[in-house]
Amino acid sequence: MVSQEQRTALIEAAVAVRERAYAPYSNYQVGAALLMADGSIVTGVNVENSSYGLTICAERTAVGKAIAAGYRRILAVAVATDNAGSPCGACRQVLTEFAGDVPVYLVDGAGNGRDTTLYTLLPDHFGPEQLT
Ligand code: THU
Repeated sequence: MVSQEQRTALIEAAVAVRERAYAPYSNYQVGAALLMADGSIVTGVNVENSSYGLTICAERTAVGKAIAAGYRRILAVAVATDNAGSPCGACRQVLTEFAGDVPVYLVDGAGNGRDTTLYTLLPDHFGPEQLT
C-alpha cells in the first residue's frame, strides 16, 4: 500500500527532478520518481542526445539508477511532464520487470493529473515468468 504521504512525496520528487531534464531538442522535459520497497525514492530525467535515437527516457533512467543502487521492487511510479503525458511503451515494459500492477501518477508541472496503474497502461505484457 502507498500512503497519501508517500504519493505526495513521489509526485513532488518527479516534479522537482524534471527541472534537471536534458531535453534541448524536444523541449519536452520529463521527471520520473520511483517508490522502492524500503520507502526510498529514486528519480530520473530524460537525457536527449544530438544523435536523437540515443535519447533515454526519464523512467528508464530512474530504473537504471534504482537497480544500480541495489533496489529491485518498485511500489509506485510518478511521471511529471508539461501535460501529464503517459509513459511510452518501452518504459512501460521496463517498469513491469520490477513492478506489479502498481499505481502510476501522471502529473503536469504543478503536480496535477491522473492516477492509473501499470497493468492498465500495459495489459497482457511479456514478463519473466514467460521465460521459465
Ligand atoms: N520521454 C520520456 O522521458 N518518457 C516517456 O515515457 C516518453 C518520452 C522523453 C523522450 C524525449 O526526450 C522526450 O520525452 C520527447 O519524446
